[in-house]
Amino acid sequence: MNKPTFYVTTPIYYVNDIPHIGHAYTTVASDVICRYKRLSGYDVFFLTGTDEHGQKIEQAAEKQNITPKQLADRVVERFKSLWIKLNISYDKFIRTTDEYHKKCVQHIFSKMLENGDVYIDEYEGWYCTPCETYWTETQLLDGNCCPSCRRETNRLKEPSYFFKMSKYQDKLLEHIEKNPDFIKPASRRNEIISFIKEGLRDLSVSRVSFKWGIPVPENKKHVIYVWIDALTNYISALGYPNEDDLFGKFWPANYHIVGKDILRFHTVYWPTMLMSIGLPLPKSVFAHGWWTVEGQKMSKSLGNAIDPNWLVDKFGVDQIRYFLLREVPFGLDGDFSFKALIHRINGDLSNDLGNLLNRTLGMVGRYFDGVVPPYTVNDESDDKIADQIISTFHEIDSHLNELSFNKALGSIWELVGALNRYIDFSAPWNLAKDPSKRDRLGSVLYTVLDGIRVLSLMIYPFMPETAVEIRKQINTKRDIYKSTFDDLCKVRVLESGQKIGEVKQLFPRVDEAAFNLEITKHEVNTKQEEQIEYEYFSKMSIRAGKIISAEKVEKSEKLLKLKVDLGDWTRQIIAGVGKSYTPDELVGKTVAVVANLKPAKLMGQVSEGMILAATVGEGHKIVELPDTVAPGSVIK
Ligand code: ME8
Ligand code: MG
Repeated sequence: MNKPTFYVTTPIYYVNDIPHIGHAYTTVASDVICRYKRLSGYDVFFLTGTDEHGQKIEQAAEKQNITPKQLADRVVERFKSLWIKLNISYDKFIRTTDEYHKKCVQHIFSKMLENGDVYIDEYEGWYCTPCETYWTETQLLDGNCCPSCRRETNRLKEPSYFFKMSKYQDKLLEHIEKNPDFIKPASRRNEIISFIKEGLRDLSVSRVSFKWGIPVPENKKHVIYVWIDALTNYISALGYPNEDDLFGKFWPANYHIVGKDILRFHTVYWPTMLMSIGLPLPKSVFAHGWWTVEGQKMSKSLGNAIDPNWLVDKFGVDQIRYFLLREVPFGLDGDFSFKALIHRINGDLSNDLGNLLNRTLGMVGRYFDGVVPPYTVNDESDDKIADQIISTFHEIDSHLNELSFNKALGSIWELVGALNRYIDFSAPWNLAKDPSKRDRLGSVLYTVLDGIRVLSLMIYPFMPETAVEIRKQINTKRDIYKSTFDDLCKVRVLESGQKIGEVKQLFPRVDEAAFNLEITKHEVNTKQEEQIEYEYFSKMSIRAGKIISAEKVEKSEKLLKLKVDLGDWTRQIIAGVGKSYTPDELVGKTVAVVANLKPAKLMGQVSEGMILAATVGEGHKIVELPDTVAPGSVIK
């Protein structure tokens, strides 16, 4: 019999970004759905990848003197290696620079041009380069700043192709109203409905202001708008326009999992595009919430984005996967704090689940020489556990079908609690004192071990490594990968007579006080920094320089104009250290100078280099060298 199919996608991530827990969150959540569906007997296709075109990447590559593709090739590994580390079981990793993808995007664009849904006109608006978005006058903040990133926008006018999105307004509204699951959760759905009701405008779908993108086949001066390019990944990955193989099997997608920031692209632009080319719409787009860190928005400038690689090294992969999905209801915003993470690890994982396994295997060791006893003597309390196991399965199924990960975990942990209470109530240590109760003792331990086997299946989608480790320790031969949902509901099917595996602690406790001492914000931040090749560093010429004169730059509080002796030359350097040093203090100091910077103008003054200084609070401390170092000496 053919298995039912299930198709789940994450967004494709901007290849140039450094992955943080926000990205890990979308991907781990999608992974849990896919693992659960596979376990429940579905044929699953799980797609992720990277978004590699656009002006930001073009500019970043230019700065490094490489092509955008070279840049993308270099940085795509950050995502791939993180997904390995987080045990992400994706079936395909798409890159928008893949040839088949480019062809597919062009095919769709031409199709829309042919059917009259795309026309050429002129676009004028306020353009935010970092966000690659045009804004209308009324959307701008504080004069001409981008409402999304608050940086300055520029007024741009360019020829552009437009997509007749307005044409599909009513059809889209009707679809959303008829299909309550199309946009989830419901609050987001209402948001999108009111947005559409305000009226859809035609969408500018090509750019001439930069080159790094997929050319419009009919007019190579234009590159196709990056969101048209990006959204198409969901079907190009399935081989579309070839509709036979994967596309025929998996489209329409069951879930596009996205963050709330990109919901509009997925529930307005994408479905209207699909309508234009005559394809069915995805069944559901789910928007999850936004993570902050210790109460603050994550940002490059604050340097507080947490590196998931570091987190996994420090706490363990399943600990992080568990925390992300347990801590906040999927759909709401959440805050990451080490306190909350450590609390979950020490409480739910170490005390509740870890201890359940540990004490049970300990007793099997003590009372049965480590051999799993058979189930022979029934008690009412065993049947209660069996009932709870079955009802927990049904709860998990309904919670996970709603993507209520935290509720599913809540139900599982109620079962963990029930098994711990069952041990306390049955008091095996008392049964062990009475040789006539040996069979009952064995049956109690069997009931708990079988419950642990069930738990290993239940937690598997969330914590795959732990699930496998538990099964090794109870030494079941039943194959986790060959199970179906119906198999999962069976109780008392654990084998007996086998020797348990090596007993290991699943979740070592984290000493919070020691952790707080050890961790400094600094450690988190430096881990987050991008690594460069030695080649880049070696291109830098850093030399010792002696400051021969210094004066304030007119009308500037922080800039000082320095004359610096570099041995063979004297340079003028404009340094921003005026709040920390008076000119007189600086004269005579030997400092470290970046000697081969391209000259730049600051407040009308030419600066031919830079002196190195540490940032201390709001001010600076210059890197000083002993005056025995001759001006011009090379620093490496
Ligand atoms: O938007 N909390 O890519 P992206 C929660 N390339 N989720 C977060 C987050 C945070 N602090 N920060 C980011 C793009 N995310 C496009 C997608 S799809 C056709 C193109 C989530 O790398 C965010 O919500 O900026 C989104 O779902 C994902 O990370 C990718 O973001
Ligand atoms: Mg983003």
